[in-house]
Amino acid sequence: MLSKVIIPSFMLVAQTLAHQNLHQFWVNGVTPGYQVGIRMPPSNNPVLDVTSPDIACNVNGESGVGVAVIPANAGDTIQVQWDVSTHPGPITHELQGPVADVTKSTGSGTWFKIQELDYVNGQWANEVMEANSGLFSFKLPANLPSGQYLLRSEMEALHASQTINGTQWYIGCMQLAITGPGGTCSPTYQLPGAYHNTDPNIYISDFYYGFTASTFTAPGSAVATCVAGGGGGTKTTAVTTTKSTTTPAKSTTTPAGPTTKTTTTMVTTTKSTTTPVRVTTTTARVTTTTAKTTTGGGSSGGAPLYGQCGGAGWTGPTTCAQGTCTYSNAYYSQCI
Ligand SMILES: *[C@@H]1O[C@H](CO)[C@@H](O)[C@H](O)[C@H]1NC(C)=O
Repeated sequence: MLSKVIIPSFMLVAQTLAHQNLHQFWVNGVTPGYQVGIRMPPSNNPVLDVTSPDIACNVNGESGVGVAVIPANAGDTIQVQWDVSTHPGPITHELQGPVADVTKSTGSGTWFKIQELDYVNGQWANEVMEANSGLFSFKLPANLPSGQYLLRSEMEALHASQTINGTQWYIGCMQLAITGPGGTCSPTYQLPGAYHNTDPNIYISDFYYGFTASTFTAPGSAVATCVAGGGGGTKTTAVTTTKSTTTPAKSTTTPAGPTTKTTTTMVTTTKSTTTPVRVTTTTARVTTTTAKTTTGGGSSGGAPLYGQCGGAGWTGPTTCAQGTCTYSNAYYSQCI
């Protein structure tokens, strides 16, 4: 009798907390509406296969025809609202573009990261958001060329990351028409392509046994630097855009947010904590790659175009049959 009651109610709770979607966003405090401008997936289930095209813009995210394109300006504050979750993990945002018509973009291809919040002061990004009703804010880079873009919101859920393919990916892609002064952002990386199910920030075998969360950095590259390009723009301080401003432009139009001040503190601290980790990891990668290059006998002419050609733990070819082996992040170099 007792177990009859307990088991179903536990499963119900687990199921409720286990899934989430991005439902709404604001540009400088103004929202186009609930689920407007977002390529909504058919369910709130996670993507599990990092090599699937779904890793770009979620299930059914390959076309945005019929989905609104929302105007924004470079440098604007974007606020997203996710379903509240208890999944430990980071939140990142990426851009793809510019293109003439984003509704035709499939999402597969080149992205650059514009925001990342991992684990800071004893809290994962999802906990910071949970305390703020699922709301999270960041800025678009100031130096962007005008055009239409996909804005990708990713929440990597690590609670089952101790098994291969256990990490869950919650993704929402928004369609923006951005007016900007021009600019160039780097580094970039490919989705699908840049993620591998055994990457150390995707498969974490010791997640519940001694893993040091404060060393974690989300997959993909570091946050891109966007510099002014073309005629007459002044060079802007890079990267600053990302984690500096969490305060919603107009908290009056947002559903909640009593803890906005706390969130701001967390986010601001992120950069200093994260940066040293990246440097360390990068050094390790360079060492590994060099060793491989000298020892690893020239296999069959190198990796194919868009194939992997380096990264921590990579045992495959380190030369390219086509293209140039290009560093993407500590765990991934690619022939492009
Ligand atoms: C992980 O997922 C991929 C893609 O679905 C599959 O090919 C592979 O066999 C899986 N690996 C394990 C260990 O489950």
